[in-house]
Amino acid sequence: MADARRLLDIDTLPDGVPERLLERARALASGARPAKLSGTVAQLFLEPSTRTRVSFEIAAGRTGLDRVHVDGARSSTVKGEALNDTVATLAAMGIAALVLRHPESGAPESVARAHPELPLVNAGDGMRAHPSQALLDVATLLDDGVALEKARIAIVGDIRHSRVARSDLALFSRLGVAEIRIAGPEAWLPAAESLPVRRCRNLEEALDGADVVICLRVQRERMDVAVGPDPEAFHVAWGLTSRRLAAAAPDVRVLHPGPVNRGVEIDDAVADGSRSLILRQVRMGVFMRMAIFEWLLGH
Ligand code: CP
Repeated sequence: MADARRLLDIDTLPDGVPERLLERARALASGARPAKLSGTVAQLFLEPSTRTRVSFEIAAGRTGLDRVHVDGARSSTVKGEALNDTVATLAAMGIAALVLRHPESGAPESVARAHPELPLVNAGDGMRAHPSQALLDVATLLDDGVALEKARIAIVGDIRHSRVARSDLALFSRLGVAEIRIAGPEAWLPAAESLPVRRCRNLEEALDGADVVICLRVQRERMDVAVGPDPEAFHVAWGLTSRRLAAAAPDVRVLHPGPVNRGVEIDDAVADGSRSLILRQVRMGVFMRMAIFEWLLGH
């Protein structure tokens, strides 16, 4: 039997699938009728989430799927059950698909190897990948009229610990974004050789003429030790303020995957301002996750 479809990361998506998901999510956002799916999707979240968990849940409901949420803190994982045993237990109950968030990088691959028959979505693993976030980010930009082949996109802040940044970078490269810039404190930048990007020395250089700015949260929970500046010093040197944003293109779009730490990586005036697409990202997240379920379950 062929392996089930899976969304583990951007790099392993077959040719044409990102484009197909982007087109379908935008069509759904414009009122296209969703496919009628059947079966139960289990959401196993072993790390906190608001946006991803709730939007997968709403998306499942809108495509006709039954849903069961497994809260990590109240599941038998706290009694020492191995992840693959938990998944085997859910699979034995006949779930149609699994959405997994896990604090360890690589956990979804391990589940996919152990359960090749199970349709699986990675809803964020450690610092490694958050593919549905990257897809919804691009769908939001396309929906707002951004031409990727001409766009200068700056990703700023704590990039090293960000699975969103990794998946965004993979998708932007795959879709032929004109120029990708990164900027942040040296301790929070990824290894130089790994990325086809322009590394900027400061925020001003990254923002200069940028068409899109993706602002990232400082992910202290993923740092082994407290490295880099404290929140106040970070805001002074790297915070996205209206004054700094004025150096970007006049029609710049500001994205943030959330949750937002106001007054740390971004000011209220930018987060709530006319250039912000933050809540549009959240809205598009539901449609992208509907498109993902349709693809995952064979439509
Ligand atoms: N962007 C994102 O993954 O947010 P949550 O952690 O709230 O799901």
